[in-house]
Amino acid sequence: MTTTVLEPRSFDYIAKLVRDRSAIVLESSKAYLVESRLSPIARECGLETIGKLIEKLQEPNSQGLTQKVVDAMTTNETSFFRDLHPFQALKTDIIPSLIKARASERVLNIWSNACSSGQEVYSIAMLIKENFPELGGWKVRLVASDLSTKILERAKAGVFTQTEINRGLPMPLMLKYFSKQGIQWKLNDEIRSMVEFRTINLIETFPTAISQMDIVFLRNVLIYFSPETKSSILTRIRASLRSDGYLFLGGSETTMNLKVKFEKQQIGNAVYYQPC
Ligand SMILES: C[S@@+](CC[C@H](N)C(=O)[O-])C[C@H]1O[C@@H](n2cnc3c(N)ncnc32)[C@H](O)[C@@H]1O
Repeated sequence: MTTTVLEPRSFDYIAKLVRDRSAIVLESSKAYLVESRLSPIARECGLETIGKLIEKLQEPNSQGLTQKVVDAMTTNETSFFRDLHPFQALKTDIIPSLIKARASERVLNIWSNACSSGQEVYSIAMLIKENFPELGGWKVRLVASDLSTKILERAKAGVFTQTEINRGLPMPLMLKYFSKQGIQWKLNDEIRSMVEFRTINLIETFPTAISQMDIVFLRNVLIYFSPETKSSILTRIRASLRSDGYLFLGGSETTMNLKVKFEKQQIGNAVYYQPC
């Protein structure tokens, strides 16, 4: 494939396509990223340039290729027990409070949104398994969703590299819940089967099954969106939460300056939001 600097016209086409499909905003300073992420796809299709890939994207029946391009432009950075504080708050305060508040229903609904390769939801699953045996007789629903079908396949498989394991997973949990598979580590079926994976695009109406959530993790994804998109997503997330439910955002994300009805709360160093 010929190495070329991405033409502004090509960048604009891809930026619009990605924004329309995912709401991810690509600034023109990200042209290098478009080039480096799309060149392998063009090569795979036997195309010489990204310009030719764009021509292919305009052909009928190019949905599969479009999905591939959008997938490639997502950033899937994640790790086990990322930023630790939310998980500490779940363990010390939030899940114990919910166990009391939901004692008559014995139902707990947790949603890990924009879950990437699954480390976040599996961290929650292991935390529940380790610390709350009393939830054994409850209906605990752990939903994990992402826009990218490719990353969801990885998440479902529950197979992680040594580097991924080294990032945040405590050794005792690794020994207890993972087994070696070649040079990788596979999470056991007991934990994997606790999670229901779904493809959900945050900019589309949420499936009706996504409601009455007690805890929603929506971390490190709002950063990619415009203020209007953030407000629209948070308004629908609020509707999916129970009135006393908990929302966690990423460390650099906030509801400040957005038209949404959430109240900021704090337990130790963990910041969370509740409907108001
Ligand atoms: C940086 S990862 C965050 C992973 C995890 N939440 C965490 O904090 O570690 C961002 C994820 O958001 C997903 N994403 C981007 N746009 C999305 C959209 N419109 N709807 C759903 N997921 C989206 C990407 O596919 C990616 O897996």
